[in-house]
Amino acid sequence: MIRSLHAAMVAAALLLLPALPAAAQSDPVARGRYLVEAIGGCGNCHTPKGPQGDLPGMSLAGGFVFDEPPFRAVASNITPDPETGIGRWTDAQLARAIREGIRPDGSLIGPPMPFELYRGISDSDVAAMVAYLRTVAPVRNAVARSEYRIPLPPAYGPPVTNVPNPPADDQLARGAYLAGPLGHCTECHTPMLEDGRRDWSRRGAGGQQFPGPWGVSVARNITPDRRNGIGAWTDAQIGRAITHGVAADGRQMFPPMGYGYYARMTPGDLADLIAYLRSLPALP
Ligand code: HEC
Ligand code: HEC
Repeated sequence: MIRSLHAAMVAAALLLLPALPAAAQSDPVARGRYLVEAIGGCGNCHTPKGPQGDLPGMSLAGGFVFDEPPFRAVASNITPDPETGIGRWTDAQLARAIREGIRPDGSLIGPPMPFELYRGISDSDVAAMVAYLRTVAPVRNAVARSEYRIPLPPAYGPPVTNVPNPPADDQLARGAYLAGPLGHCTECHTPMLEDGRRDWSRRGAGGQQFPGPWGVSVARNITPDRRNGIGAWTDAQIGRAITHGVAADGRQMFPPMGYGYYARMTPGDLADLIAYLRSLPALP
């Protein structure tokens, strides 16, 4: 990633916002707003940043650049502008882009958008995200094309259909759904194999590096290991780390940890997420 981007993300992460109201499943737009603006943190990648954080009036308008050895990816404009955004896409096309990474013209959307996890977003939640994205202010902002120096696969897997919500009476399943498909916590907090895929046998063990003006931030071990992970932390300490970016020892965290978005999570979702992290195998 480029340095100015990271500098902007420091600022962006410091913009803490009030929790969004608990979103009823029965109101898709409210639910979608919660998913996109809180736990999903789509704007962490899709809203362009300046020195003061998110650029005003540019919510989800794209342009943010990820400059890495294998690619120069430019986040897309996902506002409903018909010319430069997703305004002409049908609901089904937009849902397919989010879960399967395929555009209406059949081309594949590249990394770092976390499709391995987004394939697990439930049918009702992807529909809610689409409903909310339709209500966002359209912004005219043509972004440059991404360049991939690695071959992209033909697809990320077979078509995604019939993904149910996690069972309402299963707290760990709800927490796993928040940490994986919705929040992609495990995308950043799981070590990478040489081929770029995640080493899921070490889920949550950390180690990925994010260089920037602060030096290098390293995604931490968020398993219950007492020495290297968060096993010795209280629930309140873990909650503060997730929503305010403050570690148990008081250290302020660096980007790209998306706590500015997670600050808007409901207390119930935060409790489910913490219960799930505590259930992971403790890894050194
Ligand atoms: C880690 C960064 C990241 C996150 C998080 C992310 N995206 Fe993306 N997204 C990208 C990038 C980069 C592209 C463009 C990739 C390319 O050019 O092939 C993209 C492309 C897209 C596209 C295709 C648009 C087009 O015109 O081609 C859609 C739709 C989209 N994202 C929606 C979302 C939604 C909704 C969320 C949140 C649930 C989200 N993204 C989260 C990085 C991200
Ligand atoms: C885009 C990458 C990214 C995502 C997504 C992400 N994190 Fe992080 N997280 C980091 C990085 C990097 C750090 C270390 C920051 C530092 O030390 O300054 C971190 C730190 C933490 C810490 C502090 C641990 C410690 O020992 O200091 C916790 C807890 C945590 N993340 C939990 C989560 C949870 C839960 C989610 C999902 C809701 C999440 N993270 C999503 C990158 C990410």
